[in-house]
Amino acid sequence: MCGIVGYIGHRQAAGVLLEGLSKLEYRGYDSAGICVHTPQALAVSRSKGRLQTLREKCDSGADLPGTLGIGHTRWATHGAPSDCNAHPHRTRDGKIALVHNGIIENYLELKEELLSRGHRFTSETDTEVAACLLGENYAKTGDMLCAIVATTARLTGSYALGILCLDQPDRMYAVRKDSPLILGWGDNECLIASDAPAILGYTRRVIYPADGDIAILTDQSIQIFNALGNPVLRPTEEVQWSVADAELGDYPHFMLKEIMEQPRVLTDTAAAPLTGNSDCANSLLLDPEQIRNLRRIYIAACGSAYHVGFLGKYILEKYCRIPTESIQASEFRYAAPILDQNTLVILISQSGETADTLAALREAKAQGAHTLAIVNVMGSAIAKAADEVIYTCAGPEIAVATTKAYSAQLAVMYRLALRFARLLETQSQEDIRQAEDALLDLPRQIGQVLLPEGIGQMRTLADRFHACEDIFFIGRNVDAVTCLEGSLKLKELSYIHAEAYPAGELKHGPISLIEEGVPVIALATVRELFHKTMANVKEVKARGATVICLTTEEFAEEARRTADVVVEVPKVHPLLQPSVNIVPLQLFSYFTALNRGCDVDKPRNLAKSVTVE
Ligand code: F6R
Repeated sequence: MCGIVGYIGHRQAAGVLLEGLSKLEYRGYDSAGICVHTPQALAVSRSKGRLQTLREKCDSGADLPGTLGIGHTRWATHGAPSDCNAHPHRTRDGKIALVHNGIIENYLELKEELLSRGHRFTSETDTEVAACLLGENYAKTGDMLCAIVATTARLTGSYALGILCLDQPDRMYAVRKDSPLILGWGDNECLIASDAPAILGYTRRVIYPADGDIAILTDQSIQIFNALGNPVLRPTEEVQWSVADAELGDYPHFMLKEIMEQPRVLTDTAAAPLTGNSDCANSLLLDPEQIRNLRRIYIAACGSAYHVGFLGKYILEKYCRIPTESIQASEFRYAAPILDQNTLVILISQSGETADTLAALREAKAQGAHTLAIVNVMGSAIAKAADEVIYTCAGPEIAVATTKAYSAQLAVMYRLALRFARLLETQSQEDIRQAEDALLDLPRQIGQVLLPEGIGQMRTLADRFHACEDIFFIGRNVDAVTCLEGSLKLKELSYIHAEAYPAGELKHGPISLIEEGVPVIALATVRELFHKTMANVKEVKARGATVICLTTEEFAEEARRTADVVVEVPKVHPLLQPSVNIVPLQLFSYFTALNRGCDVDKPRNLAKSVTVE
């Protein structure tokens, strides 16, 4: 859960590295560091805290002159955030410097071994162990490629490494296994990074190295070798994202920018092809026979993506009549799922790197199931490992809390359900056409929620309720799932204790928590269940709750008779209603967090991509 960047070329490396790290800060922000190859030494500057502290410490890079360097933004796993645990880590002789994203699982065993040979360590990190082992291997052979091959052969776990060697001022090394890494080609310069936004300012031509690959980058070339050190060829691809996609523009926060981008994202995702890198000849998405043979679908994902999966269960069962289980990816392997070749396992992940989702995918493949990934980041581990992939067109999502990627994932889920329903003939062609037309109109309807009036209402509600200590979200059917997402968004951003329950569950326990003045956000947009949800609203009102009811224009008048506040959203095709409903809840979380002085783009204790289990 860290970000790495590296540069070799004609510019001052430190500036490029600091700029690149600022684009990767979403991956970790408890310490940062850079190392530049200067004529005398591998000069390092590292610091606990945000990138700004490092900038100040190294005078925005002016203290480290040179055109070759590596950088790191950290999210502590081994050892607390501190200057000495921050990367880059150097060998004691100062010959090799290394940045690392991932986890070396056998580092304790290796550390014992190195200690017994007289090595000493200055940090508690697994990374310094890898650096030390590499230094030892280099001292033996004097050949960096051989030393990297020998070192990685001893490492278990996941790693993307950027490596400098004092003896080699004209090259940088990079290695990847189960951690993201891209290699960028510019004009007379090359870069490495954990994610595209860090290099978009210099190039969009990239190589996605395969697992185990080792790269040697000079200012003119990129050579790639496999884990045994044999040369291999990897294709050069073009990143579709632009520099502006990863910039704030006129917005005060990425989260607001990304909320506002949702109509555009939905338009793009609805128009994109439904198959990505799959071999179309064998695509399940195109083969009615394979779909008819499906006995069950599992959807595995984490956090917000899991909520999309949960909505997917409701949608696929209702519209396609395929038994569907949604499951948190962290539980998938331990739940003994029943898998065979007639099972489809859908993995949903914005980053495409989430360790638990990747592990669920591997388990599904090992048991012979067909796997389909819904992913936002091209070339990511999950996208590469799945049998088929559908890319969401959300563009880079920088705010730690997901908004636009969630909406894009949901749009893919609708399209998937409609594709299956058409092939399985579980819905009439006319009904499917209506839903498809409604999907094309969805961006406009979401645009309605994002008009100044709608935004203003959520800001006012946040002003009123931001000081509360607990909030409850209730709803039925798909509204209950949107409640889960609304409450996750609120708790992760504002640190308010927020809980979500299916409205019918309240009286089985949680209603005991309702007392005078406790805010309850009730979603009541499922037409046939509106009156049942309002009965639950009356129950909490009777116990003193202050109720904010989110409903469609159809029921707004009626809701006003019971609720304290009504948030009215456009009524859309029932399949698509969850996409509209989540938007005011995102805005509410955003404004509430701002009112409480929280860092909305980087909430405490959270990192955007969770590459550890
Ligand atoms: C919540 C949030 C997280 C992610 C989860 C999965 O706002 O962003 O819950 O949804 O960590 O991440 P991905 O989609 O990258 O697998």
